[in-house]
Amino acid sequence: KMWDIVVVGSMMMDLVSTVERLPKVGETIHGISFEHNYGGKGANQCVAAASLGATTAMVGLVGEDSYGKKYLRHLRELEIGEGSTSGIDLEQVFQTSKAMTGIASIWVDGQGNNSIIITAGANSDLKVSDLKGADHLLKKAKMIVCQLEIPIETTLEVLRRAKEYGCRSIFNPAPAVKDLPAEFLSYSDILCANETEAELLCGFPVDTDDACQRALAFLLERGPNTAIITLGERGAVFATKDSPKTQFVTVDQVKVVDTTGAGDAFVGALAHFLVADPEGEGKLREAVRKACKYASLTVQFPGSQKSFPAIENMMADFFD
Ligand code: RIB
Ligand code: NA
Repeated sequence: KMWDIVVVGSMMMDLVSTVERLPKVGETIHGISFEHNYGGKGANQCVAAASLGATTAMVGLVGEDSYGKKYLRHLRELEIGEGSTSGIDLEQVFQTSKAMTGIASIWVDGQGNNSIIITAGANSDLKVSDLKGADHLLKKAKMIVCQLEIPIETTLEVLRRAKEYGCRSIFNPAPAVKDLPAEFLSYSDILCANETEAELLCGFPVDTDDACQRALAFLLERGPNTAIITLGERGAVFATKDSPKTQFVTVDQVKVVDTTGAGDAFVGALAHFLVADPEGEGKLREAVRKACKYASLTVQFPGSQKSFPAIENMMADFFD
């Protein structure tokens, strides 16, 4: 068996309160609504890629609790992907009795802004030694995708193996972590960061076009073949080692309801489009453009994963 895209990363239960405005310290306010959603950056990215038609495998860990059970059932029953009930292979998703399923407490305000507290739980127990069973998946993958909601040693080892196996990889350094070891950049093939994450990697604010260009150059010098910085409603910028001139991709303005997971929608879609249509600089630009479009669609609906539409439910010309 082989899968286009293998994601090694987090699975979290998102506990989402919708509020008019975020509470101040010491303040109690009424929420408008509350719901449990399936989240975690790893699984979100995997679901995004699978929703667009990629065959995917997830490598992750949840607890042996009710959230863990529910999460596995949810992924098994997801109706995406051809010929199976789910486009996501779960052979390497395990439950542990030693930790609870990861939790993200999320507040979303009336403007669609969010604040998130993650308690990684079982995600923190995904060790390098747990990658043994996943090695055959990694070796055959067309694209390996990872983030920073599991132990950093595990993510680093995944990137190292991707390089060793000659497999393309996307490293999404999210959530932003200070003082990441330099190897993260030297092992990354495609680095995809938002402005905050790019700022932490570069050590200077990435808040103007000029700063974006300097950040891309800074990042490319330290390892990746491709560097992409996502800019929210302003789209994305990217550059490659072979073609270091900064390219800008803009998106149409949309009404924002909830941006949670939009970055994950971008990364998952990017992985899918790069695999579906590989090689060449024009192809990269197309993949970034389509990933921006997909992400900006998802911000118009509440939730992370649950706002990622499957390709069969989208307008045929959506990505034109
Ligand atoms: O990127 C969005 C995700 O981050 C949410 O689904 C939440 O689980 C947090 O991990
Ligand atoms: Na959304």
